[in-house]
Amino acid sequence: MKIALLGKGKTGGKVLELLLEAKIPHTVFDSTNTPTIENLRGHDVVISFLSGEVFKHYMDLLVASKIPVVTGSTGMSWPSDFDIDLKNKNIKWIYATNFSLGMNIVQQMIKIMSQAGKIFSDYKFSMMEIHHTKKLDSPSGTALSWKNWAGHEMTITSDRIGDVIGIHELTLTTNNERITLKHEALDRKIFAEGALFAAKKILNDKTLDPGLHLFQDVVQAEFSQT
Ligand SMILES: NC(=O)c1ccc[n+]([C@@H]2O[C@H](COP(=O)([O-])OP(=O)(O)OC[C@H]3O[C@@H](n4cnc5c(N)ncnc54)[C@H](OP(=O)(O)O)[C@@H]3O)[C@@H](O)[C@H]2O)c1
Repeated sequence: MKIALLGKGKTGGKVLELLLEAKIPHTVFDSTNTPTIENLRGHDVVISFLSGEVFKHYMDLLVASKIPVVTGSTGMSWPSDFDIDLKNKNIKWIYATNFSLGMNIVQQMIKIMSQAGKIFSDYKFSMMEIHHTKKLDSPSGTALSWKNWAGHEMTITSDRIGDVIGIHELTLTTNNERITLKHEALDRKIFAEGALFAAKKILNDKTLDPGLHLFQDVVQAEFSQT
């Protein structure tokens, strides 16, 4: 497996550490060594931790390369027909706003919290997220995913403090109770590990169809196999 790593910043740099530790062949692309069709050739999978804006700029190029892509870029939306486009071209991509494997356990817990209406008549959800001051998007992509999983309207409070990697807290408040679900990323390596997990999956799992896959769906499939 030879990996094209797009971005070696705060998160891509952690992927690079893992690749070096595991002696996985790779090429690093950044703002000085930018990817082209020619220099991407020979790579088996792309892992991208570019900002959403920069990633969008390279999307056509990546599709044209036909190399499977694992992308963690946030602050962007997908063209509505992109999944079909990939299917038609027989290409597999996996994306996530949060590649933490633990986030899949959180998703299951949020599914349970989302059923509050079955037992409470008066309740509300709220969320807060904290990230480092360099983060470009707000609220975070993860906060938007959590809200989507909860399926309830809620206010999201965003704070940008120091070098905080990522804290998300979902609170369910009823008249006399408060339930809080908190996820705290302690090291950016969690995103790198998840992205590498996805890269192996995209290359080795023949049951994964062409198209655009959400990482969480890929991992949930793993859960249901056991
Ligand atoms: N999905 C997840 O699990 C997850 C987790 C954390 C972060 N993220 C997201 O990942 C993205 C990157 O975050 P980060 O904090 O790692 O960013 P970062 O530290 O700012 O790193 C960005 C990287 O992009 C490279 N770059 C910038 N412009 C470029 C260009 N035109 N062509 C090629 N490379 C270019 C930079 O190159 P230089 O090194 O040359 O400056 C740098 O290596 C953000 O969208 C963030 O929200 C996702």
